[in-house]
This record gives sequence, structure tokens and C-alpha cells, in this order.
Amino acid sequence: MAETLTASLEEISVELKPAKANPKPGKLFIGGEFVDALSEKTFETRNPATGAVITPIAEAGPEDVELAVRAARKAFEDGSEWRNMSPRDRGRLLWKLSELIRANAEELAELETLDTGKPIFESSRFDIPLAAECFEYYAGWPTKIAGETLANSAGGEALVYTLKEPVGVCGQIIPWNFPLQMLAWKAAPALACGNTIVMKPAEQTPLTALRFAELTLEAGLPAGVFNVVTGFGPKTGAALVANPGVDKIAFTGSVEVGKEIMRGAAGTLKRVSLELGGKSPNIIFADADLETAAKFALGGIFFNQGEMCTAGSRIFVEEAGYDQFMSVMRARAQKMVAGDPLHPKTRLGALISEEHLNRVLNYVTVGKEEGASVAIGGARIGTKGYFMKPTVLEGVTNEMRVAQEEIFGPVASVIKFMDMEEGVREANNSQFGLAAALWTRDIKKAHAIARRVKAGTVWINTISTTDNAVPFGGYKSSGFGRELGKSAIDLYSETKTVWVDLNQ
Ligand code: NAI
Ligand code: MG
Repeated sequence: MAETLTASLEEISVELKPAKANPKPGKLFIGGEFVDALSEKTFETRNPATGAVITPIAEAGPEDVELAVRAARKAFEDGSEWRNMSPRDRGRLLWKLSELIRANAEELAELETLDTGKPIFESSRFDIPLAAECFEYYAGWPTKIAGETLANSAGGEALVYTLKEPVGVCGQIIPWNFPLQMLAWKAAPALACGNTIVMKPAEQTPLTALRFAELTLEAGLPAGVFNVVTGFGPKTGAALVANPGVDKIAFTGSVEVGKEIMRGAAGTLKRVSLELGGKSPNIIFADADLETAAKFALGGIFFNQGEMCTAGSRIFVEEAGYDQFMSVMRARAQKMVAGDPLHPKTRLGALISEEHLNRVLNYVTVGKEEGASVAIGGARIGTKGYFMKPTVLEGVTNEMRVAQEEIFGPVASVIKFMDMEEGVREANNSQFGLAAALWTRDIKKAHAIARRVKAGTVWINTISTTDNAVPFGGYKSSGFGRELGKSAIDLYSETKTVWVDLNQ
């Protein structure tokens, strides 16, 4: 099979069948039951490696969203099984969910690869285990969520303390690039805090969310605590944002939709947290280990076909190290071969859709028109499926559209800089601020720059790592609110202050 993968860059042979996954028609998951949309409408999810339809999926309208929100509200109410559950038992349920993800890891990885086009190497080594780990991490939290006893000078004797309470019904709208992992980042902390959830997966990738819904039944999560409504953003997603029964919206996706969600949520003053795009700088100083920096730069932009919010898509290289860095980058990038995403050796899969592929390809044209040159790649591979060659644009300047706009595909824009001041200034010259990486052997310089770069995460001599215990989120147009770690516990809880006058 390996030869069919490497034989030609011009045509991808996609012939493997999943061993465990057997996608069935998707229904909505409301109040612990799988149901059709009231309208009986469906849409199709497709395999980006072939363009073929995988299975029909129920399309939720506002009336279905309303039923899901009511189910979540009922599960949240005083006296419900979920509200009465001890923190210990809530933690056990989260742990059980992580065990069930692990027990079904092979099937979930295949479903993720079928739906997204990402290599099975990635879904089985990263997406699925990291989702399981996220539930493990938050399984430890319910027993540790606590308020404080506070000093006060308001006059007389008083006992003042705070309670941490769940926000309520959380609408969670997630993207297609890391479907189950994004579900875990949102669902695990929300559940740890005692909230209930209406999850809206991306229309391109509903399969793992629906399989996860089955696992919540197996785990014994009370009915209505976790619900899934599948469908398109402007209809299903917008209905969730507008629904007055929803207390909080958490969203990961594009900047435009992030703004739309803020506007939509304003009418009912919902809490909002947004994780939007990025155009993250990866700053390579000449005094870095250039070989390692180039190797990691490749992963920083080509992992998951570059469909990553943290993609190190603006690669700033100091002039004195430019030639050495670029020769390693070119050589390694040329060796990356796209292949059948289900083949374990494949490291570059298909982009999510034809529309998205064309959008990404158009940026190559835009870059050329702006005066950049294509160092490697720059074209689609074959005609079946949505594969694209790893692409490196050289001669880019930071004002160009290919340096300012999120491409969200396997396209790196390489920008030369002369010295530290220029590097930092240009890195910050962006509407985004999700992440930044920098490479240098000078530790003093590294920490100084880490403070000056406007980004939610700064990686020094590494790139793209995240951890469930470590806060993640953006500055500027990359959004607000921090997911993961203790930060997400704050995102999913309200603080209530209780005053007790001890003089009466
Ligand atoms: P999108 O922002 O439209 O979709 C993300 C999620 O939001 C999906 O579940 C979608 O159904 C939902 N949605 C869309 N419109 C909505 C609305 N009006 N109200 C409520 N929910 C809505 O992203 P799309 O179109 O899939 O990708 C476009 C670009 O967005 C990408 O090229 C990339 O630049 C960026 N993006 C960034 C992501 C990130 O991780 N920060 C993830 C996905 C996309
Ligand atoms: Mg799909």
C-alpha cells in the first residue's frame, strides 16, 4: 500500500476502508434520545479525501434547538439528578467518559479521519487521546471548585464568603479542524462545573460528537445534561445564540462569526467566550538552532494541513540565518507527501472541503500578485479529494494579504527581518494575537520578547504545544476568555457573594 502513497504527487490513491468505524445516519441528541429533526430535514457529511457522501445527518431548525435547550434547562433545574449529584460523583462521570473515549479510540480516530480528511496518524496519536486526557484532567476538578471566605471592612461583624456556581445552559459551537478535541475543551470544564450543554458541531464534521453522545449514555450521564444539535451555522448555530434559555455561548471559529455571535448574544446578555483565528508569528533568530527551528516550523504550519488556529503561518527569519533555515525548510517540505488519510504512514491529509481548498489556493494567487514567490508547492494535488501541496511563499512582506489574513491551510509566508526590533514590531503588526513562537539561544532576549509579543501563548524554542492544565486563548481579534486549566473553570462558573451580619 505504501507505494500507492508515494508513487505520485499528482494523484492520491484513496482505497483503504476503516476497520472499526461504520458511520450511520446522524440524528439529533436531545434529552438522552436520538431523534430526527422535526422538519425531517437532513444534510450530508462528506469525506474530504474522496468527496464522497459519508452519511446523512439531521438538520436542526430553531424548533429543535428550542427542545434541546429545554431538555438542558430541565436537567439543570434545582432538584434534578445532575444538580443533586455530589462533586465526587460528577468527577467519576467525567473519568468514565475519558475511559469510554479510550476504549473506543480506534473507532473515534477513524470517524475523525473520515470526516475531516486528517491523517489517521494525527487523529489516533493526538485528537482522540488528547480529548480523553481533557476529560481526565477535568475529572479532578469538581471536588476542588470552591469559593473563599473574605475579609471586609463594611462595619460590624460579618461573615462574607463566595460560592462558585454553574452558569447554567451552555451553548457550545465548535469548528471542524479538531472536532472531538474542541468538544472536549468545551464540554469537560462545563460539566465539571455542573452546567448542562447544547453542543453544535461543525456541519462538516458531526460524526465524533454524535458517537460521543452515545458514550454519554453508556457513562450514565443524566438525560439532558449533554445534547447535540447538528446543522449549519446561520440556522442551527444562530438559533442557539438567540435562544433566551441559553446562559452562555462558547465559540471557536472565524472572526466574522465571532462578531456575529457577540451581536446575537447581546440581546439576551449571554456570557460569551470566543476563540477565533490567528496569524501567528514564528520568529527565527540567526542565533537559534536553525536545523531544529526549521523542523518545528514545518510542523507549526503543516500539521493538520495547516488548518489550525495557532498555525505558525508568518515565519519571520533573521537575515543572517535565512539561507540556512530556508534550505532545511525546503528540503523537508519537499519530502512531505500527501496520501490516503487512513494509511498510518500518511502525514499530510486532505483539506476540509473543495470550497476551502479553493479559498486556500486563491491565496497563493493573491501572494504572487502581491510580489511573493512560490518556493515550493502552490498547487492542488490531483482532482479527487481536496489535497494540496505543502506550500512556502518567499519574499513576503508583512503588509501583504498573505501575511495579514488567516489562510487556514498548508501555506507558510516567509518574511525576512534585519534585527530584533524589526522582528518584534512586525510580529505584533497584526489584527491577531493567538500565539507566537520564537527561536534563539539567548535566554535573556527570549524572555524579553515573550513579554513584548501580544499573544495569548508564547512558545520559546518550541511551537504548537498545548496542555489541558495550561490556559489557552487570544489577544486582539483572536478572541477573549481562556480555555483549559483553571481558567476554564472560571469561564463556566458564576461567583456568588454571601453576606452574613453577625451583629443581629
Ligand atoms: P465558521 O466560523 O463559519 O464555523 C465555525 C462554527 O461556527 C461551525 O460550527 C459553524 O456551523 C458555526 N457558525 C457559522 N456561522 C454561524 C452563525 N452565524 N451563528 C452561530 N454559529 C455559526 O468557520 P468556517 O466557515 O468553517 O471557516 C472559515 C474560516 O474560519 C477558516 O478558513 C478559518 O480561517 C477560520 N476558522 C478558525 C478556526 C479556529 O480554530 N479558530 C476553526 C474553523 C475556522
Ligand atoms: Mg465531513
